[in-house]
Amino acid sequence: MNDKEVVLSGIRATGNLHLGNYYGALSKFVKMQNDYDCLYFIADLHALTTTPDPNILHENVKNILAEYLAAGINPDNATIFVQSDVPEISEMYLLLNMHVGIGELMRTTSFKDKARKQLGIKSGSEDEDIEKQIIGTDSNKRVNAGLLTYPTLMAVDILIQKAHKVPVGKDQEQHLELTRRFARRFNSFYGVDLFPEPQNFNFGTQSVKVPGLDGSGKMGKSEGNCIYLIDDEKVLRKKVMRAVTDEGPTEPNQPISAPVQNLLTLMELTSAPEIVQQYRDAYADCSIRYGDMKKQLAEDILKVTTPIRERYHDIRNDDAYIARVVRQGAERARERASKTLAEVREIMGIRKFY
Ligand code: TRP
Repeated sequence: MNDKEVVLSGIRATGNLHLGNYYGALSKFVKMQNDYDCLYFIADLHALTTTPDPNILHENVKNILAEYLAAGINPDNATIFVQSDVPEISEMYLLLNMHVGIGELMRTTSFKDKARKQLGIKSGSEDEDIEKQIIGTDSNKRVNAGLLTYPTLMAVDILIQKAHKVPVGKDQEQHLELTRRFARRFNSFYGVDLFPEPQNFNFGTQSVKVPGLDGSGKMGKSEGNCIYLIDDEKVLRKKVMRAVTDEGPTEPNQPISAPVQNLLTLMELTSAPEIVQQYRDAYADCSIRYGDMKKQLAEDILKVTTPIRERYHDIRNDDAYIARVVRQGAERARERASKTLAEVREIMGIRKFY
């Protein structure tokens, strides 16, 4: 295990996983676990930055754990753990914050977006307005400091495990860039060579953008256009049958409209190539029937999700198994984390007298 490169990725504990999460991340995590020393974790501390209901947070952590396992992550191959089970992360987060600038955190895109939301400001408004409101005196409206330091915490997740490769989507690229900057800064400030600079990683495959069912863009929790891995058959079929299409092609070989292209993209992920081609041809010669296409798509998605859903329910009901998995994961994650933390403390001059 030790000569393999370390791959680490986390997912915030908010809601269930959808097909976008599956094709964008989870299915690749499953493949990577044999070739790399993989750590996958549920970022429950990061989820706190948007102050979830405590009961829902705990349920969400459990759901995602069960989904990871059901999708094929093998806890004997990969280390699966819950972020809050590794207290070393919280301690190093405090230490690393001493080398992070408030300004660079405030300029992070995701911070500005979420701060706007917490303040109830429209998305078009100037950055200056946000800054004024953040330091303004109205105490009912506040942006929590945890949100500001989200990138520090994420950097610590990565650096404490000395990860080389971090498979994340485009939206996390800026956080990863900050992580590299913090690693370089720490190394050069103390004249050490402690942290490798982590790189994004898509396992040699093209990154996929999984479209939603509403004809617009990407599948996303907040867009309400998702197919969840654990949707039961009825729900899933209904969602697919309601997917947005167009009026139907009127001329041969006309360009494919965006909503229909979205359905074809979903088919490319789940259906056999001949089937995708069949519907492309049917669009081109104007014989396409969207009802048939959707039925086919629903069946093919179900072929992927049904076994996952079935395993999910078994695992979700097996508290003892889940506890065993996360305890083993926490032990492994803490072993490395405590080594790194001890090095960081020593380097920074935090030493014990006794
Ligand atoms: N910020 C990531 C997201 O929202 C989740 C995350 C937290 C993460 N810590 C991480 C991802 C460390 C990769 C590595 O998707």
